Amino acid sequence: MKRKIPYYLKKIHARKQGFYNVIDDEKTISAIQKFARSVRGRFDDIVLLGIGGSALGPITIYQSLKHLFANELPANKRKHPRLHVLDNIDPGLIKDIEDIITYKRTLFIVASKSGKTPETISQYFYFRKKCDEKKLKSSNHFVFITEKGRGLIFDIGSKENIPLFYIPENVGGRFSVLTPVGLVPAALTGVNIAGLILGAKKMRENFLSRSFEKNIPYKIAVSQFLLYKKGINITVLYPYSQRLIKFTEWYKQLLAESIGKANIGITPVNALGVTDQHSQNQLYNEGPNDKFFIFIKVKDLGETIKIPNYIKNLSFNKLFHTEQEGTIQALTHYKRPNIIINIDKVDEENLGALFMLFEASVAFLGELFKINAFNQPGVELSKKITQKLLE
Ligand code: PA5
Repeated sequence: MKRKIPYYLKKIHARKQGFYNVIDDEKTISAIQKFARSVRGRFDDIVLLGIGGSALGPITIYQSLKHLFANELPANKRKHPRLHVLDNIDPGLIKDIEDIITYKRTLFIVASKSGKTPETISQYFYFRKKCDEKKLKSSNHFVFITEKGRGLIFDIGSKENIPLFYIPENVGGRFSVLTPVGLVPAALTGVNIAGLILGAKKMRENFLSRSFEKNIPYKIAVSQFLLYKKGINITVLYPYSQRLIKFTEWYKQLLAESIGKANIGITPVNALGVTDQHSQNQLYNEGPNDKFFIFIKVKDLGETIKIPNYIKNLSFNKLFHTEQEGTIQALTHYKRPNIIINIDKVDEENLGALFMLFEASVAFLGELFKINAFNQPGVELSKKITQKLLE
């Protein structure tokens, strides 16, 4: 396997995908920063209308890098608008969001690569009508993120002078977190997007490296591939960090939708330390040996908080790390394959690196399995059938 990195890299390059080049688009990155500066102070709430790859990236960035109770903070403690992602069309969600926003102080982001996803389009029409009724100018209250030159969202946006940001044609939804899809909401909510890009660029060097030692994305992909051959066809992403809880959701889509094809597939499972120790660990230790565990260990968990009246000098930080060690040692005792990804802390740079790491590892995995990781015929089919049923 060691000799094959250049071979698989060549195969990935041949697919002409943009997920690892889009981070060089400095023009778009500065346009996003400029736009965020230009609307500063005008909005209390950002509502993102989007689903799947157009939602999970923004959710992850916000949840990972902002205050863990960002949306619950009292208004006088908030420096930036709150972000709400409506990645469902449950009428309850549509109705209830209206109880917490004021239209005049809300910016709607419509994110849809195809510009025709029924869920997103219907949401757009709903909130657009509301804004029209309140005489709010569409170009002041909407931002569109879509592919250039096609689709309803592009057409309306260009006609009405609504700010438009583009998703490159060769970047698929679940690989779009480092395009305007992830970067626009991030910049609007005060995230340093340059840091995300920097981290992703550093990890890209690993991805493009021919050295097995350096190529961490390849090492992960090869582990998953070889274990799959032995019947270990589930990957559990298990970070010990409350901040990475949504990252595991993002990865779930990436892995499932990219690799689940032609009767092949690795089932992604998300877990969270320490919470899932008390829910899943029994199964993980003594259940079927069909899972590969990827732990993420975060060295700096923030301020050290001492626990009073318990074990001398113990802090939550120490307890957290010790419990992670305990979980890993127990799994190893039961001969459950596992690896640890160590990061210093959850910040922009490391999150950007993690996005690139897993996108690249999934790209390798596709080539190892000899499948196209970048299409989603199964998703398209259900979209088409729904469209037909509606007609
Ligand atoms: O990864 C994908 O391709 C999908 O999950 C899409 O992101 C999702 O279906 C939404 O599509 P669109 O962005 O075109 O509205």
